[in-house]
Amino acid sequence: MNFGKSIRNLWLLDESITFLNHGSFGATPIKVIEAAEQIQRRLEKEPVSFYVDSYADELRRCISKLGVFVGAKPENLALIDNATTGVSTVLRSLLPKLDSDDEILICNHTYPAVKSACHYISEISGCKITEIALPYPVESNEQIIDVYRKALNDKTKLLILDHIIYTTGLINPVKEIAELVKQNGTLILVDGAHAPGMIDLSIEELNVDWYTGNCHKWLFTPKGCALLWTAPEHQSYTKPLSISFYLNDDYTKEFDWTGTRNPVPFLALDAAIDFHRELGSESLMQYIHNLMLAGRNLVADEIGLAKEAPDNMLGSLAAFELPGHSDTGHEITGALRKRFFEKYKIEMPFVKFDSKIYFRFSAQVYNDITDYKKLTSALKDFLG
Ligand SMILES: Cc1ncc(COP(=O)(O)O)c(C=O)c1O
Repeated sequence: MNFGKSIRNLWLLDESITFLNHGSFGATPIKVIEAAEQIQRRLEKEPVSFYVDSYADELRRCISKLGVFVGAKPENLALIDNATTGVSTVLRSLLPKLDSDDEILICNHTYPAVKSACHYISEISGCKITEIALPYPVESNEQIIDVYRKALNDKTKLLILDHIIYTTGLINPVKEIAELVKQNGTLILVDGAHAPGMIDLSIEELNVDWYTGNCHKWLFTPKGCALLWTAPEHQSYTKPLSISFYLNDDYTKEFDWTGTRNPVPFLALDAAIDFHRELGSESLMQYIHNLMLAGRNLVADEIGLAKEAPDNMLGSLAAFELPGHSDTGHEITGALRKRFFEKYKIEMPFVKFDSKIYFRFSAQVYNDITDYKKLTSALKDFLG
């Protein structure tokens, strides 16, 4: 399979833009958009029959196919709109079990929307939110594991752990951290917003309590498709945010019907998984990882920036600190994104943490090394 510019026409992406932000919202391939349109038309041809006669089975068929893809049993798997919903679903389900003696552990790289959800739950329950700082630059998984080992205590009720960190692209050693967490009697929710489709996943083997992840980023579905995996022992009290007909029936039934919704992004999973497979899932993941490394090496060498994480701790996102810039408290990241978009025709996000500004770039199969050469030229011009 040839990747790079020769297959860029499988997406609608604007030819004039160097697209280095697959991370924020993904980009849906034309083939999947067309399949979604067909589903929408089929639905509207006979809406009642669609919902009453066929939806439940079609949805479960898609969930089973997703289960094979992410290594999850379908009976533990539900579909939701996005990872934000996944986190809120778990936190609200835990609410009756939380009080002022409990702590929820997050870190300085936790996604801001997830931090908001934690603070809301803290306001209601009185539980404490403890935010630890992860080492960065980082040299090994052991360093990360060690920080969590030290942070866990007898009050830690829940750890929310990113599988792939949104600021730096770093992949956390989930299985090893989950082991520690279990020994401490703590629950663990993994925020795998970027994981499905970017890295090989076997959710069932991670030994966590909940796992949420988006399908609309790296697995190519239309926006509004994400998974929530729940360990069997937590299914009786893990409730969807919207309660409908099947209260206390069973986990999958409660989540499969939460009121009338547009189910197209869920049912388009079928075509999205086929698309990923047609591109040879394994070689796709290898290509996007290798391309990210090549792009990262180019930027590091040409601009003279230090690589702050080992290659094997990254997937297909990378980030560097932007020299000469710090967090001024203004909307600097949005302004930088706009500047690169307008002046250099490069779509790339800027993120901040620890008062520093980072630029982050992605590698997807429609990218090739010329995209990172453009980025390098733009950075040279921008940094003077
Ligand atoms: C780590 C992480 N968690 C959660 C989210 C939220 O994803 P969504 O907006 O699809 O809910 C993101 C989005 O980029 C993310 O990077």
